[in-house]
Formats: sequence, C-alpha cells, structure tokens
Amino acid sequence: MSIQFNKDTKIFHLQTKNTSYVFCVTDFNALEHLYYGKKIPFDNVKHISNRQIYSHVAHESREDRAFSASVQGFEIAAFNSGDIRTPSVVFDYDNKADACRLRYRSHTIYKGRKPLVGLPYSRADENTETLEVVLTDDENSVEFTLIYCVFADEDVIARSQILKNIGGGKLTVRKFASMCLDFYGMDFDVITLEGIYLYERAQVSRSPLNRGVFKNNSLTGTSSHNHNPFMALCAHNADEDIGETYGFNLVYSGNFADEVAVDQLGDTRVIMGFDDTGFSWTVGKGETLVAPEAIMTYSDQGLGGMSRNFHDHIRKHIIEQEFAFSPRPIVINSWEASYFTVTEEKVLSLASHALDCGIDTVVLDDGWFRANDRIGLGDWRTDKEAFPSGIKGLCDKVHAMGLKFGLWLEPEMVNAQSEYYKEHPDYVLSTSKLPLISRHQYLLDLTRDEVVQDIANRIKEELQGVELDYIKWDFNRYATEASSFVTAQGEVYHRQTLGVYKLLSMIKAEFPNVLFETCSGGGGRFDLGMLYYSPQIWTSDNTDPYARTYIQYGSSYAYPVSALSCHFTEGDCTSGRKSTFEFRYRVASFGSYGYELDLSKYSAEDKAAFKSYSELYRKDEDLNLSGDLYRLISPEKTDYCAYIAVSKDKKKAKLTFLELYASGFIESMALRLKGLDPEKLYKNEETGEVLHGATLMNVGIRIGDLYRKKRSDGYTVNFVEV
Ligand code: GLA
Repeated sequence: MSIQFNKDTKIFHLQTKNTSYVFCVTDFNALEHLYYGKKIPFDNVKHISNRQIYSHVAHESREDRAFSASVQGFEIAAFNSGDIRTPSVVFDYDNKADACRLRYRSHTIYKGRKPLVGLPYSRADENTETLEVVLTDDENSVEFTLIYCVFADEDVIARSQILKNIGGGKLTVRKFASMCLDFYGMDFDVITLEGIYLYERAQVSRSPLNRGVFKNNSLTGTSSHNHNPFMALCAHNADEDIGETYGFNLVYSGNFADEVAVDQLGDTRVIMGFDDTGFSWTVGKGETLVAPEAIMTYSDQGLGGMSRNFHDHIRKHIIEQEFAFSPRPIVINSWEASYFTVTEEKVLSLASHALDCGIDTVVLDDGWFRANDRIGLGDWRTDKEAFPSGIKGLCDKVHAMGLKFGLWLEPEMVNAQSEYYKEHPDYVLSTSKLPLISRHQYLLDLTRDEVVQDIANRIKEELQGVELDYIKWDFNRYATEASSFVTAQGEVYHRQTLGVYKLLSMIKAEFPNVLFETCSGGGGRFDLGMLYYSPQIWTSDNTDPYARTYIQYGSSYAYPVSALSCHFTEGDCTSGRKSTFEFRYRVASFGSYGYELDLSKYSAEDKAAFKSYSELYRKDEDLNLSGDLYRLISPEKTDYCAYIAVSKDKKKAKLTFLELYASGFIESMALRLKGLDPEKLYKNEETGEVLHGATLMNVGIRIGDLYRKKRSDGYTVNFVEV
C-alpha cells in the first residue's frame, strides 16, 4: 500500500519507493502538512508541527494558542483563513471572508485514478493509488477535493484539486493553484529553465532562495519559450549526483505560475498552478472547477536523480504507451529544405532520396496551402498548383515508394488575410477592432465550442481519405489580448487551453495511430500537457548544433530525451556557423532523430553517411527511449558537453563528448563515467579496452585517447558488457 491513514493520529502517509509525504488532520480539522522528502517509517511526526507564538499571530482557539493558521504547514492555503502567507486559493463567496476556512470532511483511498475531465494528466498503471480528501468551509458553501496520485516506482506524486459550489450563493474564484507544499526552512536553491525563441530552456537558472516571493510564470496563453513550467528546489550543495532535490512540473500548456514564497519565519511555500493574473472564474451552483495536475518528485541523488525520476514518469505515465517506447519515425521534413517554395515535385524528390538515407517518413511542412505566412491559415485549401495530386494523391505516391507520410497543421490560428476571418471576424481571440497581429495571424477563440467544432470539421473535410502516419501540430503566436466575444474575460485563458486540448483530442480521434509531434515556433509549448497528446515536441527552430547543445542539455533537466525532436540540418540557418556532419549527427541523435535539408543537393557519398547515421541512431535508439541519462559536463560551465545514456539493465551505454570551442587542454582531460554497474566488465567499442564499471566510473577515461578523429566532430563511445 502506497497510501496509509492512521485513524488514531489522523496522519496520511504517502510512500513511494524512496520518498514519504506526510500530512494530518489537526484538532481543528485543517489539513496540516508535516513532511516531504526521503522515505521514513509510518511514525507519528506531529511533533514537527509549528507552534510558534508571537505577537500578531491569530489563533483558532482562545484556550490553546499553540495552533495557528499563520505558521502551520498546509495542504491547501486559502486567503482570508487566518493564514497570512501567500495563498494557493483565493475566492469570494457572497463576499463572506469566513467562508475560506477549510475543514476536513472525509477521504477515500483507491487503486488507480480517475481522469481529470478536459485536462491531460498522469495515466495510471497497476501500481497507481489515489487519495482524495474532501474539505469544505464552515458554512458548507464550497467543497474542495484534494487529489493525490502516488506513482511509487517513479517516486512521483501527482496533485490536483477540484472545487465545487455546494451552496446557493455566488462563488468567484480568483486564484486556484494545483498544489501547495510547505517546507520548514529556506536552505534551497531554486532552478528554472529560462530561454527565448531560438534558445528555449537553454539557460539553467539557479540561485539561492531569498525571502519574499519568487515567481516563474507565463502570461502568453502558452507555456512559452521564455519560462518553462518546470522548477526545482535543491540543497545549496546539490549537484548532478548528490544533494536533496525536489522537482516540480505542471501537466498544463496555458498561463501558469510557479511561486516560491519565503515567509516571516524563513519557511518556504511552493505553489503551482494557473497564473492568477486576470483570472476570475464564476462557479455556478453545483458546478466545478478542476485545477491542472502538478507532479513532484524528490531525490537525494541530486539533479540527475530528479531528472531520471521525471524521465521515467513521463515515459510511463504522461506519453501514450503506444508510442512511448517504440522506435520513432526518422523523418525528412520539408521546412528547412524549401520553406514556402515547397511543391509536390520537391516532396517527391525528397522521398526519392529518403530510403538511401535510412529515412522512413516524409513530412510535408508548412506551404502546402499557401506560398507565404500572410495567407491560408483558417482556409486550409490545398494549393493545387503546387500540389496537383492533392494531399491524398501525394500521400499515396509517398506510400507507394515504401515510405510513411506526415503533414504540418496549425489548427489554432487564422491569417488576417483569409476567407475564414472575413466570414467570422468574431472567431478570433481579440475584441479589438484592430487586433494585435503576430506572424500575420490571430488566435482562434477556442473558448467557444462551436469554433472548436468548426475547425475540426474543416480539417477533417480537407484531409478526408488521407492516410496520414504523422502530424506536426504547430502554434506560432502568443495570446496577447485574450478577450472573447462570448466568454467571460477572467475565464478566457484557461478556457482557451481547454479548447486546445479538446481540438487536439478531436483531431487525434480522427487519426488514430497517427504519431503527433507538437511544436510552437520551435519549442514554445514544450510541456507535459502537450506530451500527453504527442510523444515528441519540436525542440527549437534553432538547429545550429552548437546552440542546440545548450537547448537540449537544459531541456533534459525536466524532459526525457525521446520527447525532444531533433533534426540533422544544414546547421547554419540560424547562425551562419559551420559544423561537421558528424557533429551535427551527434547532437541531433540526443533526441528523436530526423533530417531537415534538401537531400537532392547531396552527393552519393553524403547520402551514404546519412544512411550510416540513421542506422547508428536505430542501433542505439533504445537508450533514448528507455535508458537512464547521466549528465557529465554542462556546456554552461565549460567549453565542452558530455553525457552518457545507460540501459536499465546496465548492459550497454553510449557516451557522447562534444567540444564546443577549441580548447588547449582537452587532450589531458580525464572523464569519469556514471551510471554503470561497478561489478560488470565493459568493452570500450572505440579502443577495444575492457574495464570494470567501477574503474570507468572512478578512474575514468582519457579524452585524448579518443582523438583519432576530428575534434570538431565530437566523440561517441559505446560500452557493452562482456
Ligand atoms: C514554426 C516551426 C517550424 C516550421 C514553421 C512553418 O516556426 O517551428 O519548424 O514548421 O513554423 O511555418
């Protein structure tokens, strides 16, 4: 049993393989948080409850001043409840503040989990257990169901909550976080993944926590290129291998906020969920509001341990199992090959070279219904001049060549210059007469069911009979004026995100078995919400392998490498910087591998090289799909980058070493490996040398010994058990 409730102490103890999460029902029926961290026995840990008494602290009881909402840890922290710290929930109920004190009423523990209606979430397996705790206010006007799903094997606990208006009054919700977690003390560093378009998640930002409120959020209507929903709190001494580390992420793709608030006592509160800026949600009588899921993990093995817990969880519980561990398509994508000048002829030319390069899927990117980015979105009419056989005809031709076929779509948008916008000017997400334009397009108002249905119908109609194998689902602008002609202002951002999920589900239902890859001007919507629908996401429009090294390394803190779509390209389109083929392959094979260049420009010798890369990728792909990643050298700290992927049974491993700038002393560098079995003997497939895992991990290898090839190529060394 992962979840236990002790009737005498009224303690809930949630246990995973290596962690414990403990809270209790207090004498005043509040839910007090007691502990989260390394696994402990089922002891009564109520002694840790905070009982500080000082002036200005408010108490529930006149007799016993020990318990105060101002200082206790909570599982849910309502504003106007006596807790004067940063709240996780703010609501008005007929303008009565005393409605905010929340009392335990009941709980249930069961195997498996229930779906979060309308939202993505961690999928249950046979080991999943769930605890639901119901609280209401004193007047029984508002009911909260706190949901805890325990994924014991991956050391992950998923939280969300549902709020219901059970009284007869008016309930307006102004903040509704998915989780609230209180820690004693503030001895943490906070880590987030920062970036921008063409540099998503590349800056791993780490700083000691200070008093006050730290906030990592997005107001773009999406999880954004700029701030990812992932966040970690770790001990100041935590590194890749040691040190207590807590990881958090949201299974959500809209406006989010991660808050870390250090209070007057120097205690820390973590809150994650919707961003409350402009948020105001009216919950009618008997209606509910569901908060997106937040996931959390703890590891005493530093950032590496945290990442591996998340990687396992995401692969087993977020990504559809049909795709999670299966070989991914090796695509040739038309975008960087011909941008908007793409034609049927050019796609067939790519296809004619594909098999020679070990490619199995041809993807027609943007340009099949338009010649530039000013037109076409919303109308979705195939450009018959460029594609005389239509998409179905082209798809059939590609299939006849023994290849799979994929198509690019951007269903959430409409171009300002389109018939669709002319017909439905009220279908966009701006009520202004002159809506702000971005990439010549507007966001469609997916808060409205009729718009979602209409777009789904139009896409289905256009693609009727096309036997697609792969869909690239793009999203190329932020929501900048989220106002709807129909939907209440304070509800627009979240309803829009719900609309995106609905539309994705509808189109996915139309194309079962099709692998979806999501995208947003590169990696502007790289989050767990999207990974629920698509096993891989286009990582960034920046395909310069040097820049990509930072982007991919940063992304790996939160996401498994198989979720990162990475292509071998000309390499210089964003930077003008030259790189060798080998280097480009090495970087792109970090994730789910493909190509994006004009194959017809390459010689037979080049194509033979591409084929050998595709074969190499396939040979080691299982390490990407199910292996453990150990980061060895961060590119942010040195001129190099190194990492090793190790199979779960520790029988094989692949080390990658990249030199980003020419450096004088690299030959004398010794590199200690990680993740191997100390007892096993491994053969270095480059040098033939056989050494124990213990030796490779403690003594290491000499980088200079690998220098028989070009340094600018980087190095890959496979180790296999002998
Ligand atoms: C975005 C994507 C690119 C490409 C273009 C097409 O920028 O990230 O990969 O699909 O759109 O317009």
